[in-house]
Amino acid sequence: MSQANPATDSAAPADTAGGATTSSRSAPRRRSGAAGSQGTTVQGTTVQGTTVQGTAVQGTTVQGTTVQGTTVQGTTAKGAAGDPAAPVRIAVVGAGYWGPNLVRNARSCAHTELHAVVDLDVERARLVAGADPTVRACGSVDQVLSDPAIEAVAVATPAATHLPVALAALRAGKHVLVEKPLASSWAEGRRLVEEADARGLTLMCDHTYCYTPAVQRIRQLVLDGTLGDIQFVDSVRINLGLVQRDIDVLWDLAPHDLSILDFVLPEGCSPVAVAAHGADPIGSGRACVAYLTLQLPGGAIAHSHVNWLSPTKVRTTIIGGSQRTLVWDDLNPVQRLSIYDRGVDLKEADSLDVDDRRQMTISYRSGDMVAPALQEREALQLMMTEFATSIRQGRRPITDGLAGLRVLDVLEAASRSLEFQGAVVPLRNQR
Ligand SMILES: NC(=O)c1ccc[n+]([C@@H]2O[C@H](COP(=O)([O-])OP(=O)(O)OC[C@H]3O[C@@H](n4cnc5c(N)ncnc54)[C@H](O)[C@@H]3O)[C@@H](O)[C@H]2O)c1
Repeated sequence: MSQANPATDSAAPADTAGGATTSSRSAPRRRSGAAGSQGTTVQGTTVQGTTVQGTAVQGTTVQGTTVQGTTVQGTTAKGAAGDPAAPVRIAVVGAGYWGPNLVRNARSCAHTELHAVVDLDVERARLVAGADPTVRACGSVDQVLSDPAIEAVAVATPAATHLPVALAALRAGKHVLVEKPLASSWAEGRRLVEEADARGLTLMCDHTYCYTPAVQRIRQLVLDGTLGDIQFVDSVRINLGLVQRDIDVLWDLAPHDLSILDFVLPEGCSPVAVAAHGADPIGSGRACVAYLTLQLPGGAIAHSHVNWLSPTKVRTTIIGGSQRTLVWDDLNPVQRLSIYDRGVDLKEADSLDVDDRRQMTISYRSGDMVAPALQEREALQLMMTEFATSIRQGRRPITDGLAGLRVLDVLEAASRSLEFQGAVVPLRNQR
């Protein structure tokens, strides 16, 4: 990914996850060969200073399709009755800006077989489906729901339509992948989760960033204790983005940061409350700039800045821990992650004599920085693989409906906080 060009970014959506090769909003393009970033490996990423010895920073690998921390669901994977290794037959609904990325990945993924592309604008569906005679272009989702050959539906329509489209698909017995956010309210999201569970079908939310090599490595570094106890998270996701007609910047961009937090934070460290401030300085009728502050247990804090009005593009997250601090710069492909053995330590008062106790008990660590090498791989390919394999294996996907629901909980609470000028709103798990 390169630095955004302010001159062209007004037409470029801010919402581009995980290095996916995106299509233009005005003219969806067909895939031309494999994704630009796919399959290449950045070798020998810079390691500055001496490497940290004896820690899990080095030699850790994130494997292709590793399923982390998921539990096997007691569901039957419908459609897997025949060959469990057979590709999942899939239709993509919504061929606007993001849908073509799902179409491209459904075509190239070894675990899926693209059967149809649906859009209310059937011409658009035709354009995205292309000349392939095995892929139908449809103007209504009903055409794929009544087709027994189609096992799964990927929904890339605007958030307000996720509930009706996804619910209809589940009721027709299809497994469902829904773009973020899962729905336009927590109650709607819960209906989808309940429907999928009742029918033993897979419901997955495309939290694309969770499938990037960088975020998978971050999760590993948090969970294996390399960073120590999490003390703060600071995330900035800003550029000149498309001012959406139906949602504010919070619902457009914050799902990325919230789903990443949900994925990387260890159990017991989930946010407990949120306060949000926002502004609409251009008079668009919705917040174009927003700041979210999340309280984490044990006095830790997470902050997210999302903004459609910034002339420069910034995609940076800092995760401060008691042992190390991690900096993720998603716009720096040669060094996306940097792990600093630098920070502030508080000496235990017991270990000090009376005179020392009068002195400052704070000391500064100034150790090395390590930049782990990461594979360059398109997140959507891994996301699509996870969708298909979770169906075939009858287990919950990494980013299942419940993960989508937790993100909706924070988004709803943040919207409420915006209405009340930044009031602190507790999250559901705290009410
Ligand atoms: N994962 C990511 O990084 C990412 C990035 C961008 C957008 N998204 C998500 O993708 C979804 C779509 O966003 P977009 O920017 O592509 O929107 P868009 O408006 O560009 O495209 C939506 C398309 O859906 C079609 N559509 C609407 N209702 C339909 C229906 N009932 N049946 C069939 N087609 C229908 C529209 O005609 C349109 O072509 C949103 O949920 C958005 O949040 C995700």
